[in-house]
Amino acid sequence: MEREVQAVPERRELLYEGKAKQIFATSDPKLYWVRYKDDATAFDGKKRATIAGKGELNNRISAIFFDRLGQAGIPHHFVRRLSPTEQLVRKVTIVPLEVVVRNRAAGSMARRLGLEEGMVLTRPIVELYYKDDALGDPLVNDDHALVLGWVTEAELAEMKRLALAVNDVLQAVLIERDVLLVDFKLEFGRTDSGQLLLADEISPDTCRFWDRNTLEKLDKDRFRRDLGGVTEAYQEMLRRLGGTDDGQ
Ligand code: TMP
Repeated sequence: MEREVQAVPERRELLYEGKAKQIFATSDPKLYWVRYKDDATAFDGKKRATIAGKGELNNRISAIFFDRLGQAGIPHHFVRRLSPTEQLVRKVTIVPLEVVVRNRAAGSMARRLGLEEGMVLTRPIVELYYKDDALGDPLVNDDHALVLGWVTEAELAEMKRLALAVNDVLQAVLIERDVLLVDFKLEFGRTDSGQLLLADEISPDTCRFWDRNTLEKLDKDRFRRDLGGVTEAYQEMLRRLGGTDDGQ
């Protein structure tokens, strides 16, 4: 089958280096070049390690999820994968909020409220965290986000609607692969024209995935909690998602 040939822009200067990714400018002012790193951090960067192969696995897994979300009509920044560890995305300015969706109590919610990890919630819960490493990404509410000017009312409503739609799509994809989606974190950005797009990454770094039958953890909790087998868990997620090593 003939494929439309899309010119790949040139990679330009490093704009930003985060804990798990580098973002470069490109020769196209509307596009960024993202490189996924093998570095992992937890607890606001207090715990650090290099996890061999993580960059490639997250690049591939994120690409698969964004493609599925795009097919479901969710606007996102992902354009295409460029190499094992790199991808092209639309340029956005990130909204300084982490949007967490939870289907079961786990992690900080289980801790904060004294709940048993794994408790099924009667409906998904959406939480907002202010993206500020120095403050440890504190939990905030709608009023904080609105009054402090991080989002407009329309944007906040859209972010929550999209977050729940993402939950529906991902849960449907994952349950077919015998994976429970316990919770996940999303980030959104605005294009220069003000369009809200789902951005950042969707990977075992940013989601909790449990095997449906054994409840085995297939995500970054293996690193956070020193459970071992981190790369193997990420590889298993890619395998279940039908990801292939196409050499690219
Ligand atoms: P939490 O239970 O630690 O608040 O995490 C909720 C979800 O958000 C979980 O799937 C992991 C993800 N997450 C991130 O992607 N980045 C972060 O910095 C944190 C704390 C959590």
